[in-house]
Amino acid sequence: MSDRVEALLGEMTLAEKVGQMTLLENGSARPDEAGSLLLGGVLSGGDGAPADNSRTGWVDMVDGYQRVALDTRLGIPLLYGVDAVHGHGLLAGATVFPHNVGLGASGDADLVREIGRATAAEVSATGVTWNFAPVLAVVDDVRWGRTYESYGADPALVASLGAAYVEGLTRDDLDRPVLATAKHWIGDGSVRWQTSTNPDFRIDQGDVPADDALLRDVLIPPYVAAFEAGARTTMASFSSWGGQKVHGSEALLTDVLRGAVGFDGFVVSDWAGIDQIVPDDVAASIEQAILAGIDMSMVPSDGQGFQSALVAAVEAGRIPLARIDEAVTRILTVKFELGLFERPLAAAIDELDADDQVGGTIASDEHRALARRAVAASAVLLQNDGVLPLGDDSGVIVVGGPAADDVGRQAGGWTLSWQGETGDAVTGTSLLEGLIDRYGVDRVVLADRGGAVPEGVRPDVCIAAVGERPYAEGLGDSSALAWEGSAAVETLRTACPELVVVMMSGRPMIVTDRLPEWDAFIASWLPGSEAGGIVDVLSGDVPFTATLPVEWPASLAGVPASESIEAPLFPIGAGILTS
Ligand code: BGC
Ligand code: BGC
Repeated sequence: MSDRVEALLGEMTLAEKVGQMTLLENGSARPDEAGSLLLGGVLSGGDGAPADNSRTGWVDMVDGYQRVALDTRLGIPLLYGVDAVHGHGLLAGATVFPHNVGLGASGDADLVREIGRATAAEVSATGVTWNFAPVLAVVDDVRWGRTYESYGADPALVASLGAAYVEGLTRDDLDRPVLATAKHWIGDGSVRWQTSTNPDFRIDQGDVPADDALLRDVLIPPYVAAFEAGARTTMASFSSWGGQKVHGSEALLTDVLRGAVGFDGFVVSDWAGIDQIVPDDVAASIEQAILAGIDMSMVPSDGQGFQSALVAAVEAGRIPLARIDEAVTRILTVKFELGLFERPLAAAIDELDADDQVGGTIASDEHRALARRAVAASAVLLQNDGVLPLGDDSGVIVVGGPAADDVGRQAGGWTLSWQGETGDAVTGTSLLEGLIDRYGVDRVVLADRGGAVPEGVRPDVCIAAVGERPYAEGLGDSSALAWEGSAAVETLRTACPELVVVMMSGRPMIVTDRLPEWDAFIASWLPGSEAGGIVDVLSGDVPFTATLPVEWPASLAGVPASESIEAPLFPIGAGILTS
């Protein structure tokens, strides 16, 4: 391996080296531009699905870039990256698994490993070779808009599930394996409220007070586990550490990551994350980032600008050529390890396998059954006065509230688009449909959006599905932890002898004052495309086995958990087990 890398590096011009260090988003680089910039990689950002959002549409897009890369002087294949953070969510019709917070509630590493495998199969079938997952954040303040991307607040849980996911993702029995990314190095989940440097956000991309014990005991262990499991890239965090952006920190990106941790894969920067190092001075930011230890830059738009600034810094002697060689060596090593040089084109898969075999992996029965199992395994039963399980004799079931029949809400952010979708755009089974499948259309009635039960219907039990609309990153930072559907809950409460509330949210929401009125309360997080799994636990067909991976605060005085001044409503580990 190292011989091949060395030989190739020896032939490369500075432009070719700097090209390998450049990662652009597909909207900013047509294939011919990707070729002339000699790109090391291309990505689909959260809004970067191809116009033909089908499996073959993806394959054509990815191979379109790859063919141009193979046609350049040295023919170095490029990586194609995507955020398949809960399955290949950007692909229309893909299996959408629960977001990580729900998998944290399941606590089930074998399940998460299987989800990694299934995700790799769907990602790989579209030609994509690089997944920007898993997120290894250890979440402290659930007001953070990325709480649902985290497996929870316990570093040991994050380490075990993160490692299991990487093992599944990097499975070696695929025609083209998928490269995993441990992200975001480091401190992303420990940011403090109101410290974001992004004026549109409150906490995401904020500051973490520098604390060696936190670094050593909480933040690093999940990375050690993921690296051992086979994650060969890590993405720098947008956040700051003691007031200094991680993207510009040689202490964190080199001394700790390379020295103390011993990581030898490559470091990719986050979306324009380098630009934040020295505000209003991109050239200075680039110089500092590369010197600090960023190997590949997710520019993501102005490739020309990035490359000319980097070349100028090298030619002026401000960045030693040895540092460039080091970065390119790491990138090429990972590409060789992945087998990219042997199998650069996705189209080749179709020639090897029968088309139905590869195409049939997208939302296969097997993957959807796995997702449904994961939904059941992640639903936390927090209160039950005896109404659950519903069993077979539950009479007439009325279901209402904003999330009663909305797969988009179930799926949350990073689904079809960056911020996600409400409604039917996302393929899957809604809670209503799952209930009808189990109990029959005669026994299940949909209330209107406000919770009003249709005239003449006499409910025996009502289910209110409430929660959050989809969001991603800092746009989901929430100062109040307020949820939607409160009016529907009230209306259903008045109309029904028994009321079950199902919360579909990316994190705990404040429910303290309302909880006494509810007969049962379930946190089902962001379950994804297969809400049949919620019905499995409601009905009693499958026992409740999940527990809280984060504290459930009683009020805003309970966040962040590390500085809470009151007891939580439910502590970590809470959850009524019915097995
Ligand atoms: C992209 C996302 C990216 C975000 C960063 C969006 O436009 O789709 O992938 O994470 O911008 O701000
Ligand atoms: C996010 C990353 C993501 C990248 C590409 C950024 O905004 O922070 O997690 O991988 O966009 O979509």
